Amino acid sequence: MSKVKVREANVLVVYFTQTGNTEKVARAIYDEVLSSGYEAQLKDVKEITAIDLSKYDLVFLGSACHSANLATPVLKILADIPPESRLKVAGFATHSSPRPGGSERDQELYDRWASGCIKSFEKAAHETRLDLLGYFGCQGAASLPIEEFIHSTIIPNEEEWQTYVSSIRKHPDTTDIEEAKEFARNVLIEYRNKCL
Ligand SMILES: Cc1cc2nc3c(=O)[nH]c(=O)nc-3n(C[C@H](O)[C@H](O)[C@H](O)COP(=O)(O)O)c2cc1C
Repeated sequence: MSKVKVREANVLVVYFTQTGNTEKVARAIYDEVLSSGYEAQLKDVKEITAIDLSKYDLVFLGSACHSANLATPVLKILADIPPESRLKVAGFATHSSPRPGGSERDQELYDRWASGCIKSFEKAAHETRLDLLGYFGCQGAASLPIEEFIHSTIIPNEEEWQTYVSSIRKHPDTTDIEEAKEFARNVLIEYRNKCL
């Protein structure tokens, strides 16, 4: 297999967003990739097909979490990548569920409502569509209808709700953005290790 000269590698950062959270994370990743000296493009998922992905050496593919999984257009892209492609992809998502690794309750909410995102990337990797170089997830503020759904269905307890809602509305915050940039740097290291 031919080795790509790293700084000549062409990177795509592509995302699905409805209310802008995932786009913010995508822009942070894109800026970090550019600062690291790579050619990069930033695109909305509406602008690309699965075939387009094969033109890039590395793709950061991101999505808002919808119905406990990646949004439909991103799932479609993953499904349309032919098996054996092993495209170098790093996945990312924003979700209103807590991040994993916190309290038992936070973990339960993450498992039920957001863990499907990483699982979909892992499934595509298992099917040899992707070579998955990493995954990043962070919280993103929910739209008002989604807040209402969460309050009525998932977090009805008023005390828990107040704590949750005052926190979620701030995301993605500066820490999330810094972590997204760190994620991008780590993926680029992983990419370099694979290509050199
Ligand atoms: C239709 C819809 C369904 C959603 N379902 C979930 C969900 O199942 N789990 C979750 O954690 N967040 C869910 N959310 C919240 C979004 O994932 C979260 O607000 C995300 O940051 C939105 O990203 P965006 O601003 O890029 O669209 C949902 C949002 C919408 C609009």
